Amino acid sequence: MTIRNIQHFSMSVPDLEVARAFYDDFGLETFYRDGTLVCRCFGRDQDQIILTQGPRKRLTYVSFGTDADSLAQIKSRLDKAGVALVDAPENVRADGLWFRDFDGMLTNIKAADEAPWDTAPRVTFNTLDNRQARRGRTELLDEKPIKPRRMGHVVLFSTDPNRKVAFYNEIFDMRLSDRVAAFLSFLHSPAGSDHHIVAFGKSTTYGLHHVGFDVGTSDEVGAGARQMVNKGYIPGWGPGRHFVGSNTFAYIRDPWNSMHEYFADMDYISPEANWDAQDWVHLGTRSIWGESEPLDFAKNFETPELR
Ligand SMILES: [Fe+2]
Repeated sequence: MTIRNIQHFSMSVPDLEVARAFYDDFGLETFYRDGTLVCRCFGRDQDQIILTQGPRKRLTYVSFGTDADSLAQIKSRLDKAGVALVDAPENVRADGLWFRDFDGMLTNIKAADEAPWDTAPRVTFNTLDNRQARRGRTELLDEKPIKPRRMGHVVLFSTDPNRKVAFYNEIFDMRLSDRVAAFLSFLHSPAGSDHHIVAFGKSTTYGLHHVGFDVGTSDEVGAGARQMVNKGYIPGWGPGRHFVGSNTFAYIRDPWNSMHEYFADMDYISPEANWDAQDWVHLGTRSIWGESEPLDFAKNFETPELR
């Protein structure tokens, strides 16, 4: 009875057309549906981000997928924990269960698999044991637009990350992957998932810190960052490779200071793995290579003082 995947998230922004230009440049497919702006990965039949018009950037809800049997069990766990079910927001399909957690964060869980994603190789590498894997020059010289294959995770703010971890463990059976003291915790699914499909960082209110999109290879992470910087967007952090999750990364700020990450090569935690969660606080930086994070990396731009 566990969350198995992340389906999509929703946030309000002050200008849907500005958002659409950003997500088009980021490499997503965008279209309007019932007054909302929907973003998907090209070739993938699954909403990833649903944007609504609002006075400011604000996370609206996060939607997770599970299986039908688990959904019934999760409902009874929510009942037992005294968590009331609520209605879905307007303009959104009312699939599954909707509730607000102790932070006031609206959450949806429904019976849904991950849609298949494009796995076609785009970049070929010469290696020491195969120096002619690629005939000729790198395909990246063509400067084809980088297009994310799938949304892998969201990192959210919470007033109490430790309490959130306990809640997600008790209700959804999610497991701690790694943590950075009491202010950042990463969770995976015991059914098998990326190192994290959701993580929680400490703030004074819930909110979106960043969303991670898998682009397939580390070269495409770097090329994606170049694509966005060339279009005038502001880099957030990277390129680099994280300690936590082992993935390569490059973060770009959207027009409202949420970060959008291109990533590749993240640790996968299988159901059989005997995963040993660690506390990485002693490292003082979260990259194996690449620069240290900028000073404002962990700011929550949804708190009243930063709006
Ligand atoms: Fe990430």
